Amino acid sequence: MVMEKSFVYGIAVTDYNFTGREEETKRLKANFTSGINSILISPRRYGKTSLVDHVCRHLNNDDMIIVKLDIFGCKTEYEFYNALAVAVLKQTATKIQLWMDEARDFLVRLTPKIGIPLDPVSEISVSLGITPETHSPEEVLNMVEVIAKRKNRRIVVCIDEFQQVGEFENTKQVQARLRSAWQHHHYTSYCLYGSKRHMMSKIFLNRSMPFYQFGDLLQLQKIPTRDWMDYIINHFEAAGKHVPEQIVERICEVVDNYPSYVQHLSSILLNHLPQGGTVTDDMMSVAISELISTNEALYMQQVESLSAYQMNLIKAIVSGIHSGYNEKRVRSMFDLGSPSNLVRLRDALIERDLIFSEMRQLYLTDPVFGLWFKRRFLYA
Ligand SMILES: Nc1ncnc2c1ncn2[C@@H]1O[C@H](COP(=O)(O)OP(=O)(O)O)[C@@H](O)[C@H]1O
Ligand SMILES: [Mg+2]
Repeated sequence: MVMEKSFVYGIAVTDYNFTGREEETKRLKANFTSGINSILISPRRYGKTSLVDHVCRHLNNDDMIIVKLDIFGCKTEYEFYNALAVAVLKQTATKIQLWMDEARDFLVRLTPKIGIPLDPVSEISVSLGITPETHSPEEVLNMVEVIAKRKNRRIVVCIDEFQQVGEFENTKQVQARLRSAWQHHHYTSYCLYGSKRHMMSKIFLNRSMPFYQFGDLLQLQKIPTRDWMDYIINHFEAAGKHVPEQIVERICEVVDNYPSYVQHLSSILLNHLPQGGTVTDDMMSVAISELISTNEALYMQQVESLSAYQMNLIKAIVSGIHSGYNEKRVRSMFDLGSPSNLVRLRDALIERDLIFSEMRQLYLTDPVFGLWFKRRFLYA
């Protein structure tokens, strides 16, 4: 028997390590079933991949075929087409007999590379060798619809790390191509999700961009404490250890309910505890320090290339100042430079996803980064 891991952080989680998200699951399921396109945006490690996996596992597979791909590694438009075509061919092949008939027209122009392995576990990174000489973008994009139509089956294509498309050369043109092909698909719908709130917003929330109002937009929120309570308590119990309710509340509060950090902090506490033990308040500060230091290398990397002014703006936010940066008092207290300088600072930090703006207020994206930053640069 495989031991289930008590707490998991950093990778997508499944049933035993999955909690909450009931509303979101329902909504996505409904979208998938009725062929509505979905867009899912949140900072990294909020649980997008976990949620889509969860939805896919709990759908009735007879009704539709799910094709999932992660395009994090795709740097160009055609790398994307290759990844898409491989995913579609591989993941529909096992479900639909005689798929080759549908795909033959498509594949015939690709010389020898075609030994694509059909087992679903092997890497998706295989390239088919699709180039502008072999296929037009439209042919690649429409292939899935052709297969779905001929087989009379609904297909949902889930594309993870979709923000990557925003980095392609001529991105607006590429986006226009994707959108105009996809909006004519009736058997195929799309679930597009990714991190980098800034880039995803640029693609989906900007009126002048092709993907504006492409589908049902879901901005994934943190997981509320009530959804963590039983989950954390039960996972401690399963390991023969205990955690009081008010400590669970503290765990959630310290990391501001950021999903991967809730799991990470819980994991540290669990590991420190002897068999049969109960978490106490005193253990919290040690565990928080460990949480911060485990992530320090990443945080260092994030601030390494920041200018002094950019650091100062983060200092202001970490000190609890979320607006009013144009006031002279604030500007001089934190040395933020001129008001026009400030706009540039803000935009640069938003672009890096270190901060975000909500109702004209600025906040840090990552609460534990904030704890680290405070310790390191404010009380140093
Ligand atoms: N529904 C959930 N239940 C429990 N933990 C979750 C959930 N969603 C996310 N997490 C935590 O966040 C981590 C990252 O999840 P992931 O799905 O990879 O996020 P994303 O795709 O947004 O980067 C997981 O390893 C887990 O610790
Ligand atoms: Mg993910």
